[in-house]
Amino acid sequence: FQKEKKVLHEAHDYSAKLYHYLLRNTEVAKPALDYLLSRGFNDALIEQFGIGYAPARWDTLTQALERKGYALAEMEAGGLLSRRQESDGYVDRFRDRIIFPIHDSNGQIIAFAGRMLSDGQPKYLNSPETVLFNKSRTLYRLHEARPAIRRARQVVLFEGYVDVIKAWFAGVHNGVATMGTALTGEHAAMLKRFADEVILCYDGDDAGQAAAHKSIPLLEEAGFRVRVSVLPNRMDPDEYISSYGQEPFVREFIEGAVSAVKFQLIYLRKSHILLEEDGRIRYLRDAVRIVARRDSPTERELLLKELANEFGVSLDTLKQESLEFRQQEKL
Ligand code: CTP
Ligand code: MN
Ligand code: MN
Ligand code: MN
Ligand code: MN
Repeated sequence: FQKEKKVLHEAHDYSAKLYHYLLRNTEVAKPALDYLLSRGFNDALIEQFGIGYAPARWDTLTQALERKGYALAEMEAGGLLSRRQESDGYVDRFRDRIIFPIHDSNGQIIAFAGRMLSDGQPKYLNSPETVLFNKSRTLYRLHEARPAIRRARQVVLFEGYVDVIKAWFAGVHNGVATMGTALTGEHAAMLKRFADEVILCYDGDDAGQAAAHKSIPLLEEAGFRVRVSVLPNRMDPDEYISSYGQEPFVREFIEGAVSAVKFQLIYLRKSHILLEEDGRIRYLRDAVRIVARRDSPTERELLLKELANEFGVSLDTLKQESLEFRQQEKL
């Protein structure tokens, strides 16, 4: 088992070097390089993040691994190759894709994510789960972000690989991403060793906002203070940085991330029609319920004051309602 892992580690290292070399040095990789440049990547980023290119042929990596003496069946089990469909043998798993290496927390490459150059599906192809790679225990770039996370006792969670890379370039060095899967309790427990605060910087679209909403209780139960960035116009961090620049991104959405409860109140608005009295009443009741769950009496009072001012009701009424919720839920 240990031997199998060691061989796969080496094979991943070798594959990453090959993909990176091909991106840098071959004519077939020209469209991939142009694509990366068009998305604002430069040599330094390609180098630092070890980005590569898997050519469109079926056997680039297969032949290279075979020449190196690797057992192809083991390489298939390790997620680097696929079984040929019609006959015996193996083919490359990643073809005509930009390759992002995925490291474990020790900095060892354990998987790849491959992005299409066009708009086809699936947009990202990840390695399957293997003896090396467990998605619910892997966070993209944790090995590089860990010192900055420790220093700030804070981690920024992104949805996408490119978001992590662009945010790093903008000076946010404590950013990581999940592997295209939901955040798990295992992720939270891993991060809790280094951080006390999480900033959720997910995409501004409905899916991203819903994912942030779901992640809040999971993170709070793990003991984190949570803040949330709400990006405008359904943009993701990469798109925002490309349109408006690095400095506004950091100022408004990292430094300016709102508290979890503020986010929950913003999120709640989407499902209520505030132009109608009925909708306002229902919104206020749900909003007070969210506020009532906060532990700090000061926080509760400040939030209730804001709601009272905004909706033209008295603070006393909202306090009364909040107390009733707390009694009902035995808080
Ligand atoms: N993802 C995936 N498979 C897909 C689509 C998405 O694994 N078919 C994962 C990837 O980890 C991706 C993340 O979900 O980074 C977020 O998805 P999305 O916002 O759609 O992609 P972006 O990261 O914005 O991708 P890009 O900027 O390259 O278009
Ligand atoms: Mn290089
Ligand atoms: Mn998304
Ligand atoms: Mn996105
Ligand atoms: Mn994106």
